[in-house]
Formats: sequence, structure tokens, C-alpha cells
Amino acid sequence: NNYVLIMAGGVGSRFWPKSRVECPKQFIDILGVGKSFLQLTVDRFKNVAPQENIYIVTNEQYRDLVKEQLPHFTEEQIICEPSRNNTAPCVAYASFKLFAKNPKANVVVAPSDHFILKEDVFVEKIQAVLEFTASNDALLTLGITPTRPDTGYGYINYEKADKGEIKKVIRFTEKPKLEKAKEFLISGNYVWNAGIFIWNVKSALKAFEQYSPEIYELFNAGMGHYNTSSEKVFIDEYYPASPNISIDYAIMEKADNVYTLPADFGWSDLGTWASLYEVAEKDENQNVSNSDQILSFEAEGNIIHLPEGKKAVVKGLNNFIVVDDKDVLLIYPKELEQEIKAVSEQVASM
Ligand code: GDD
Ligand code: MG
Repeated sequence: NNYVLIMAGGVGSRFWPKSRVECPKQFIDILGVGKSFLQLTVDRFKNVAPQENIYIVTNEQYRDLVKEQLPHFTEEQIICEPSRNNTAPCVAYASFKLFAKNPKANVVVAPSDHFILKEDVFVEKIQAVLEFTASNDALLTLGITPTRPDTGYGYINYEKADKGEIKKVIRFTEKPKLEKAKEFLISGNYVWNAGIFIWNVKSALKAFEQYSPEIYELFNAGMGHYNTSSEKVFIDEYYPASPNISIDYAIMEKADNVYTLPADFGWSDLGTWASLYEVAEKDENQNVSNSDQILSFEAEGNIIHLPEGKKAVVKGLNNFIVVDDKDVLLIYPKELEQEIKAVSEQVASM
């Protein structure tokens, strides 16, 4: 009864200009390993659920990209959304479909843009929590020990006194302000939400019904349509009207049956250039690059991405992001990388 829903509909704008709306980062081989993030994510879950139980949830715009990258997936395994309404409706839609197929489904909901170093530990933890959610009405997350007051993550305050490995969550705070994040970090009772959710499909639907009734009602109205020929007509008409909100705000912050398994499996959210810098292999001057065609002098701490066949010479440049991609050349200080999302929008309107 194990299923995996991989969310792959985001636009990854902080990885611009490599990641573009037409081809977001999950479809790109940013690590230079010969596979896109999406392909790596699918590989990782092969020991969690049979391949036919792995579903990709994405925007209609990326259907062909997904098909191309996962040629062994059937049409049915690629669930497409007609509009961008963030992860709550994405998860609700996919959950209703799964419920219609198998009401006993036990589900892992995962993003498609993460880096995981210790895959065997990861799979072992996922299997352990799937056993838990199969028989408990629980919304489970994996918790990562925080290392900095990052405001781009969800923070989970959990019951330290709980004896087992799985801990009851006291409070879930999505993307706190910097002051709060600093407080959380110091207090030591918090873990980051890894963005991977585990639950049985009944618990998921119950949570929507209780905490996000508007979304629940919208998708519940389609009950007779899922996995039939009338599904697309229903979804095309009603999906765009769904509230635009993430699962973290819609459900996780509100629910009182949230649990977490604090775990260390070498997790990193490759959301930005600097996060890629952290995990990537560095040369003797601490530069990270996708090319060996670079001559560098007195240049340290840079991340340099060039198109194939292009050469570069760099001197006297430190801690910069340099990305040359098609019609865009980006040269930006690494520590200001959170601005890249806004910058990309500005450039789009140029
Ligand atoms: N299908 C679909 N549709 N997928 C989407 C959509 C959508 O509308 N929006 C985003 N996604 C996908 C992204 O491609 C990504 O794989 C995943 O959903 C998570 O979305 P992000 O936009 O990357 O979320 P986030 O990084 O800001 O925050 C989440 O992840 C953090 C850890 O990486 C939250 O869950 C945080 O609490 C968490 O700490
Ligand atoms: Mg993310």
C-alpha cells in the first residue's frame, strides 16, 4: 500500500538563470551527474514503493518534460495541474485521486529538488515512519538539525521528552522572521521541516477537511470523476479556483496530530546557488564550477557555471555567483543570492 507523490511543479526562481519557468531546476542536471533532480528523486524512492506506485505531480506545462525524463512512467503516473496554486491544492488533488484508487494508501509526499547524501539511511527512516503512519492518524515530517537561522524553512518545535524516535510536534512555524529563526536555533528544541510528508491518505483528507475546508470541498466535489474520463474536464474547470497556499500554511501549522522523526541523512535543500556551493566539490581555491575550462587567479569562494565549450578567466573575484546561460549572464554576490528571485522577475520584464 505504499505510494510516493513527487511534487515537481515549482519554478525554482532562486536558481535563475539556469532554472527558468520553461525548464525549472528539478528538470536540470545542476549537479553534473548525468541526471536531473527529478530523476535522482525517483531513483531514491525505488526502494520505498514499487515503481508503478510513484506519481509525479506537476504543472500541465511540464508534462512532456516529465515524459521525456521518465520514459518508463505511464500517463496515469503523471498528474498535471492546469494552474499554479502552490502545494496545498497539489497535494489535495493527488490525495483524492489516490484515495479513489486505494483508500488504504500510505503515502510519502516529497519535493523534487533535494540533495540527500546518505540514501540508505533515508530509505530506512522512510520505511520506519511508513509503518507508523499505516496504523496511526498522524501527519509525519522528517526533521533536520538546523545549522543556521535560515528563514526559508519550516521550523518544528517537538516534545523532547517523548521516548520513541518519533516525536509529537508542539508547534510548526513556516518560514519565520529572522528574529524568530535565531531564537529557535538557540533554543535547541527545533528541527527544520525537510519538506517530506508521510501519512495515510485518510489522514491527509481528514486534515484537509478539518483545516482547509475550502480546498477539501472543492476537490471532494470531484469524487466521482477521479481516474475516469471526466476527471480532466472537472480539474480544468475547478482547480484554478482553489486557494493559492502551501501545504505548510494550510495544514501543518494548524494540525494537532503532527509528528516528526528527527533524522540525519545528509539532507540539503538545493534551493539556491549558495546551497549548491555548500554540497558541491570545490577546487583548491574553494571555487565550485561545472567546467574545467576555467583559469582562475586570486579568486576564491565563487560558483561559476558555464555553457559547454565556453572558457573563462577570472582574477580578483571572491564569493560571487557567475552564471552564463543562453541570453543571460549573471554576476552576483553570493551573500545577496536571496535577491535573485526578484531580479529574475525584473529581467523578464526588460
Ligand atoms: N505540483 C506542484 N505544484 N509542485 C509544486 C508547486 C505547485 O504549484 N509549487 C511548488 N511545488 C514543488 C516544488 O517543485 C518543490 O519540489 C516542492 O513543491 C516544495 O516547494 P518549494 O517552493 O520548494 O517550497 P519551499 O522550499 O519554499 O518550502 C518547503 O520546503 C522546505 C524544505 O525544503 C516547506 O515545506 C518548508 O517548510 C520546508 O522547510
Ligand atoms: Mg524548496
